Amino acid sequence: MARAENDFYPTTQYPIEAFLMHEKFTGNIWEPACGEGDIAKIFLRKGFNVKATDLVDYGFGTPGQDFLKYDGEMVDNIVTNPPFLFGTKFVLQAKRFARHKIAMLFPLSFIGCQERYEMFQDKEFPLKAYYPFSQRISMYADGKKTKNGSKIDFAWYVWDRNHIGKPWIEWIKPYTEIILFEKHISKPKDFK
Ligand SMILES: C[S@@+](CC[C@H](N)C(=O)[O-])C[C@H]1O[C@@H](n2cnc3c(N)ncnc32)[C@H](O)[C@@H]1O
Repeated sequence: MARAENDFYPTTQYPIEAFLMHEKFTGNIWEPACGEGDIAKIFLRKGFNVKATDLVDYGFGTPGQDFLKYDGEMVDNIVTNPPFLFGTKFVLQAKRFARHKIAMLFPLSFIGCQERYEMFQDKEFPLKAYYPFSQRISMYADGKKTKNGSKIDFAWYVWDRNHIGKPWIEWIKPYTEIILFEKHISKPKDFK
């Protein structure tokens, strides 16, 4: 099946909120492929100073900004669900412009590819954590829900410039467990 134009697969609320229960950020956030702002809006609600840009105009943030051509100021953290077709390039570019952390949502299998072996060995801005979802999340082309959910499993990947040692793995709690214990998450679009 063809990919959505510009790889637009917006993130729903659960994958972001649940991730932020595991990983903490300080300083400002740049969402460089912000789409309709699903990730950026959650950081804004939590009181972060957020910069949001995208190549395309989805009515949120600053459009017409190609992240891969950016050559400006650094920011504290870069957080995004990037276009997977340019995943490696997005990570390498983010390493040039993030002072502290980079967090990106990728398929589980992003970790296991010969092409990315060198990137994952980097000790200057190393991978700190791998957060697989224990419950499958769904993201839909152009945000339009279809009957068939996603067949791909995802994880958040976090790089931290100050991390020393090997990366760790931590499973993100299933949605059902989170709503039992953390009542503030509203029901995401992709769960019944
Ligand atoms: C998988 S969607 C995710 C959107 C948003 N991050 C979210 O989580 O809802 C990928 C986004 O990357 C944007 N994009 C694709 N190529 C880009 C580039 N070179 N620079 C900036 N944004 C790009 C697309 O327009 C699309 O909004």
